[in-house]
Amino acid sequence: MILFKDNVFYIETNDTSYVLRVDETKHLVNEYYGAKVSHELGILPLQSKWTTGLGSSIIYDEKLNKHESLDIIKSEFSLTGKGDYNSPSIILKNKDGYIFDFLFEKYEIKEIISHLENLPTPHNADQELIIYFLDSRTNITIELHYLVFEETNTIARNVIIQNNSNEDIEILKAASMQLVLNNDDFIFTSLYGGWSGECKKEDTIIKHGTLTIDSKTGASSNRYNPFFMIKSKDASFNSGSVYAFNLIYSGNHCETIERTFIDQVRITVGLSSFCFNYCLKKNEKFETPYSVMTFANKGINGVSQNMHAFVNNHVVRGKYMNKERPVLINNWEATDFKFSESKLLKIAKTAKDCGIELFVLDDGWFGERNNDTAGLGDYDVNKKKLHHGLAGFAKKLNKLGLKFGLWFEPEMINEDSELYRKHPEFIVKHPGYFASTGRHQFCLDLTKVDVQEYIIENVCKTLSSANISYVKWDYNRHISDFYMEDGKSGEFFYRYIQGLYHILEKVTKANPDVLFEGCSSGGNRFDLGILSYFQQNWASDNTDAIERNYIQSGLYLGYPLSTIGAHVSACPSHSVLRNTPIDTRFNVAAFGDLGYELDLNHLSKVELKMVKKQISFYKKHRSLFQYGKFYQFSYLDSSNHSEWMVQSKDKSEAIYGYFNLLQKINPEETTIKGINFIDEEIYKVEVRKQEHLLTEFGSLINMVLPVRVNEKGLLIHEISKHKTMPAENEEYLVSGSMLNNNAIKLKPEWSGTGFDDSIRALEDFGSRLYFISLVKK
Ligand code: DGJ
Repeated sequence: MILFKDNVFYIETNDTSYVLRVDETKHLVNEYYGAKVSHELGILPLQSKWTTGLGSSIIYDEKLNKHESLDIIKSEFSLTGKGDYNSPSIILKNKDGYIFDFLFEKYEIKEIISHLENLPTPHNADQELIIYFLDSRTNITIELHYLVFEETNTIARNVIIQNNSNEDIEILKAASMQLVLNNDDFIFTSLYGGWSGECKKEDTIIKHGTLTIDSKTGASSNRYNPFFMIKSKDASFNSGSVYAFNLIYSGNHCETIERTFIDQVRITVGLSSFCFNYCLKKNEKFETPYSVMTFANKGINGVSQNMHAFVNNHVVRGKYMNKERPVLINNWEATDFKFSESKLLKIAKTAKDCGIELFVLDDGWFGERNNDTAGLGDYDVNKKKLHHGLAGFAKKLNKLGLKFGLWFEPEMINEDSELYRKHPEFIVKHPGYFASTGRHQFCLDLTKVDVQEYIIENVCKTLSSANISYVKWDYNRHISDFYMEDGKSGEFFYRYIQGLYHILEKVTKANPDVLFEGCSSGGNRFDLGILSYFQQNWASDNTDAIERNYIQSGLYLGYPLSTIGAHVSACPSHSVLRNTPIDTRFNVAAFGDLGYELDLNHLSKVELKMVKKQISFYKKHRSLFQYGKFYQFSYLDSSNHSEWMVQSKDKSEAIYGYFNLLQKINPEETTIKGINFIDEEIYKVEVRKQEHLLTEFGSLINMVLPVRVNEKGLLIHEISKHKTMPAENEEYLVSGSMLNNNAIKLKPEWSGTGFDDSIRALEDFGSRLYFISLVKK
């Protein structure tokens, strides 16, 4: 709800209040953002009560207010040159310099939401508030837009600059939002990373000075995800005040957190000003992407749940919005470029037998693409590999009962390709220098309309050539050598993303039944801009279960499980050469959109049986795994284990996952963590039945077998292909209050003194899932 009373805007969601006051000098001041408070008593109690202009401060206009300095009031946006010496959120320049004076002019509250022309707008907002500011000397206006999403406790904000002056102006910086809070021993949590190691959580105490996270690669990047949190020192997973922010944008971004001399924390979120200089012509407008913010006093899980609900309900669109995603098999880690139709069909057949629903053909199906040095750009099927073409291959998969998905990398091109030979001018390149390569490829220049049209036509042509139900859209390098004609290189990065969104809008609208998964060497472009078009995203090329536990637990802070592609792959892991139990690989991947990425025919019979059971368990609880309310109770980063839980809305079902890092001797007792169950109800807790491979036990196998055998001998080798040892069975009737109070103790872990059903042989990298269900009275 948005209310305007006595010069104050009250923006309210179910659990939060955001209060803005138009002050005596016509600046917009944030007087409060936090848990919901009443608006009945007016603004006085909430209002900052400055009665002195501190020492050397510049007073904005002594005649109107003797004390007001822009350095101190909590402005909703700031420029430069009128006494605010903190980092501005907007910098403009015209021939007269940098000084402008934007003052409140008017506002509008709208039920019918306006949409950005060239960037995604989150959908189904409850209301929109537009506040207009005018620089009366030039007639330039700044609009602040606020979209309110009441149920999900989120507010989206952006800025539109309209040049009504009679000359062109330069935009040097244009953040989508600025928010100033009083410091509360805040800790800043960012998600940093690199290829195969995305979204690592890092906590930094906010000290005086400015903290910056950003991307300069052209994409949102794996360096710093645009999502971040600001939490009070005492905030934990389920309690305390936490703010979270994100940006609906896939290009260069920048977020700054500045602690000022009076211990305010000024936060900006938006476009990066790295090599950014936008010429805004007369009568034109400039749109910044939407930023998103939320607050919860229920700790980290509180803001994550808000963000998850926001993304599922207001960012993701199309047929797959809030719909269950298929279990897939992808051939990349199984075959890379070396495959034939018959090899793929063999994998597909086994996949179908295991319960998999979709077969994804990855890189290498077209042109001369037999390794990564050639063929990118030439999407004519390679008939040497697929004798019956895409349509024929799709038919065979469909006959097996599988859907067909296909990989593309439409924004890139190899020098050794027909497309490059025909259109060398399509690539991003400075005319005076050679273009550098990444993975032997160039970037196509999406700022150019003919390139955009070429990509749209080409992708749509392939998609209509066969029965294709899913697309994996890859993007495998950072941008270099950026250049635009007529001195417009400072607009390149912004215009590239506009071009990208134009393509994605056209391709996805033309193919409404296709499920799209974004990918960028893994999670190099995991952001809300991509999720406005693609319903899910590949989280990382690193499919090792432990590494994935780190990566996914970072992603979960801001992104719902339904958007996270997670696969079971072969061991030792291609990424880190680590061996992890096949059930742990599943248990981690199950908290996301489950897939398999290995040659299933290389698994033993017992492993295949385990895979079948995994898939059937996942399908049975798919909506919980993809859309359940998600909680974390511990991270592997700071503990020897991590714990995740998904719970149904009505609290009748949940799955609790426990993931071990290293097994310890003399292990402590483990209790199941729970929250939000109905105290007085009865629930059944049962472990998902797992099995141990006989080979895991080495010479200890003789402890359990009736006859002595050589643990490395042929006999054990043969038996282990057909037989497993059941892991512990554990089942309890418990009350909701026992769950909520972490009172339920599990069987002891292995500690070197024997093995039977009374022991949980968890081992290094071991894990368990527990299904919790309400017992009907
Ligand atoms: C990078 C992706 O992240 C991988 O999953 C795979 O699709 C390769 N590209 C193919 O080239």
